[in-house]
Amino acid sequence: MQLWIPNKPRLCRYKSVKTAGKLSQAVAAETPSASGLQHVAVIMDGNGRWAQMRGRPRLFGHHAGARRVSEILRACPPNGVKYLTIFAFSTENWKRTQVEVSGLMKLFQGYITKEARALRDEGVRVRFIGDRVRLNPKLVELMDNLEQMTSCNDLVHLTIALNYGGRDEVARATKRLAQDVASGKLDPEKVDEETLPKYLDTYVLPDPDLVIRTSGEARISNFLLWQSAYAEYEFIDTLWPDFTAEEFGTLTAKYGKRDRRFGAVNV
Ligand code: FPP
Repeated sequence: MQLWIPNKPRLCRYKSVKTAGKLSQAVAAETPSASGLQHVAVIMDGNGRWAQMRGRPRLFGHHAGARRVSEILRACPPNGVKYLTIFAFSTENWKRTQVEVSGLMKLFQGYITKEARALRDEGVRVRFIGDRVRLNPKLVELMDNLEQMTSCNDLVHLTIALNYGGRDEVARATKRLAQDVASGKLDPEKVDEETLPKYLDTYVLPDPDLVIRTSGEARISNFLLWQSAYAEYEFIDTLWPDFTAEEFGTLTAKYGKRDRRFGAVNV
């Protein structure tokens, strides 16, 4: 039975990982985590406050935040992290001022344009999750191209949540599931907790093991609601533009000391 498969088929026209890039140099240090940690998701909060503390406009903080993304991405292989998912723009972020929203959209376009080759050459597979319908077609085209051109990579899987909301994702998934039931493709009696995730934007990703939120706020803000059911959480005070590879390493090491029982009892 063929369930909903949104991605285009993988056409590996591009050669993956060259040997020169900084990130691919990290391959030597790529150590599968003994703790089983493979997927870290991050709510990158605090850009606005970081900028305001410096008397600068909020967008200044977002640009500083974008530079942190590259640093944390490079810190993934040496820490055994194969999947990094970052919350770049939520379905609620449209409520911000027009200046901030359009500045962020420009930032995303600029980031993709500037970083695309490096991401491809350094072995990063990029995916986007979220609803693309409301996004500027030019941005969507850049997103599609970046997904396509990195589709053969496997060193680190970077997923960028853009116009993403957990409830919105579940609602969109349910709609597609209902369509498959209505068309006879899916037997409603067979719908269980293995079925719904196949319709989520993240259907090819493992669930996050660790969710980090920066800036001192202890809430999940509609991020990966279904997928994080058993994730461990770290709420840290550091503002996102100050978050370093070193702190990332400390948090991933700390994860190794957690006792994850998934509802069972360890004997
Ligand atoms: C939350 O901080 C941050 C955002 C809504 C935007 C996150 C975007 C980036 C870090 C830009 C880089 C992303 C990519 C993919 C290049 P906030 O503005 O709510 O901070 P505040 O709580 O201090 O106001």
